[in-house]
Amino acid sequence: MSTINLAAAPLRLRNGQAASAGWSLDPLVKHVNHGSFGAVPLVAQDEQNRLRRQMEAAPVHWFSRLPRKIATARTAVAEFLQVATEDLALVPNASAGASVVYANLPHRQGGEILVTDHGYGAVTMGAERLARRWGGRVRTARVPLDAAPDTAFDAVVTELSEATGLVVIDQITSPTARWMPVERIAAEAGRRGIPVLVDGAHVPGLAPAPLAGLDCDFWVGNLHKFGCAPRGTAALVARTELSERLYPLIDSWGAADRFPDRFDTQGTVDATSYLATPTALGFIEDTWGWGTARAYMRRLADYAEQVVGAAFAEVTGEDCTVDVGMPVDAMRLVRLPAGLATTRPEADALRDRVARELDVACAFTSFGGVGYVRLSTHVYNTAADFEYFAERVVPVLAGWSCDTELGEH
Ligand SMILES: Cc1ncc(COP(=O)(O)O)c(C=O)c1O
Repeated sequence: MSTINLAAAPLRLRNGQAASAGWSLDPLVKHVNHGSFGAVPLVAQDEQNRLRRQMEAAPVHWFSRLPRKIATARTAVAEFLQVATEDLALVPNASAGASVVYANLPHRQGGEILVTDHGYGAVTMGAERLARRWGGRVRTARVPLDAAPDTAFDAVVTELSEATGLVVIDQITSPTARWMPVERIAAEAGRRGIPVLVDGAHVPGLAPAPLAGLDCDFWVGNLHKFGCAPRGTAALVARTELSERLYPLIDSWGAADRFPDRFDTQGTVDATSYLATPTALGFIEDTWGWGTARAYMRRLADYAEQVVGAAFAEVTGEDCTVDVGMPVDAMRLVRLPAGLATTRPEADALRDRVARELDVACAFTSFGGVGYVRLSTHVYNTAADFEYFAERVVPVLAGWSCDTELGEH
């Protein structure tokens, strides 16, 4: 008898249509990878298009009023994240937010930057560049995949030293889809006077108040992932005395303003993604409420993990479920059969092959030489997406795994 729990009933729009009718995702492609690049609801696309038309109708009028409009959007984003408007700047993406921090920190000769082996590669590369400028190095804390909060905390803080000039820690990790106990890590680093950058790229939309109880110098989060905002829209939150040091990557007329106002002026850029973000956030709130949306994503992710895990177990004879210690509501890992996605380039190549040959958009990740499929859920996904994955994609992946084992490509 199956032990798989029933999935939640699919969500519907106010007009009774399936939730997916609120997005423009290709119906011929199964999209189970919201986590990588998000997906923008039609109402937010329409709002952004409307704003673009306004901009093109009267560019001079538009740009003279833009900083004030960005400040208004910033207030809405701050309310959504439950932080003060005067602590939050809008930046194009989490990578840009991290780059702002790297570019503006006081020089620390010989300083070390502490990251973890779950960190987002591109953000870690930025840390490496900063460490080179400091004449220091990046130190990597190894956190076991299944580490409970205490173990993860110990694994990170044990690497702190007199030499540490910055800690960069993910709140939700990208390759391993798990939370990190950032509140405790930031508190310990803060006690030692070490600045902390929390990379919360995946967090907006998944936590009602991502910075509650989190006392860190810098936090970045993408609104264009689970918040469903138009790309690229991200928040950079800075709440300590270091905030006043932060300047945008683009030097512009706001330079004389204080943080975060100076980020509202960025020369001639298309900022319509920022301005349409409140529409995206409001659409989910008005249609289902964020609390209901999160509960749905969690329940569907539980189901996805079980149904896909069971399908892999059937073809491999192995338990493919993964204990990630602190799982995330809307993103889950299932272990792939041997030989698949053992490195990041292999994982990306597998993603592209699955998209090309099977019309499924999903994420594969690699951690410690082991490959995983990372399944995401959002309000527009249904149980059928993951049942399709289990029935159609899993057997094909098992076949490709055998080919890899035999040395075929
Ligand atoms: C933890 C983490 N940091 C940073 C990023 C980069 O986000 P972006 O490409 O929007 O800058 C991602 C993207 O998935 C991520 O998962």
